[in-house]
Amino acid sequence: MSTLLHIDSSPLYGRSVSRELTAAFVTQWKASHPDGRVVDRDLNATAIPPINAEWVGAAYTPEPARTAQQNELLSLSDSLLAELSQADEYVIGVPMHNFGVPSVLKLWIDQIARVGRTFTYREKGPKGLIVGKKATFIIATGGIYDAQTQMASFNFVEPYLRSVFGFLGVTDATFVTAGGTAVLNQGKDRTAFLAPHLHTVQTHAQTV
Ligand SMILES: Cc1cc2nc3c(=O)[nH]c(=O)nc-3n(C[C@H](O)[C@H](O)[C@H](O)COP(=O)(O)O)c2cc1C
Repeated sequence: MSTLLHIDSSPLYGRSVSRELTAAFVTQWKASHPDGRVVDRDLNATAIPPINAEWVGAAYTPEPARTAQQNELLSLSDSLLAELSQADEYVIGVPMHNFGVPSVLKLWIDQIARVGRTFTYREKGPKGLIVGKKATFIIATGGIYDAQTQMASFNFVEPYLRSVFGFLGVTDATFVTAGGTAVLNQGKDRTAFLAPHLHTVQTHAQTV
């Protein structure tokens, strides 16, 4: 039985393009995996504190030496890591905010990037420990950042996600971008705008 971890990070809920597209992915994935299990992690409904010195100290203390207080500090991170390791596939909805990922997604990444758990350092350099997973990132951007466009170098979303998830071992990653959602605020029909992106997402969900 496969498990899909479904993560959303847009604060806009019913108006969100990335949420609508991840929902379509999940619907199609369920149809292709009738025995599959979906775990939903809504980062806008999860209180994730920023990491601090105590948290870093706890993460770098070898597990057998940790105090009860340090274990408590890492308990949210531990449960988020359990969701990652128990899932076979991930679908992650990402709105572009100020050219990067939304702050709730960055807070989550800070919780799941854990030395000894999701990455380690070997003689030859860093090694990611989340292996054998497939990830689909569904990104929505107000502007258009396609390669060769004037704005391409402003897109820190896809390069960042590729780098950080690659560092953690998730190298089987597909990126689907719905660019230019700003037209929806200028009267463009939402159904017409979303149609090609829904098609891409549904086709991809059938194949993973
Ligand atoms: C706080 C905030 C910051 C944004 N920053 C950018 C930006 O830097 N570049 C851009 O193209 N669009 C930006 N947008 C527009 C969003 O990327 C766009 O609305 C996209 O559809 C968001 O995904 P969502 O619909 O899933 O929320 C921003 C939107 C918000 C709410």
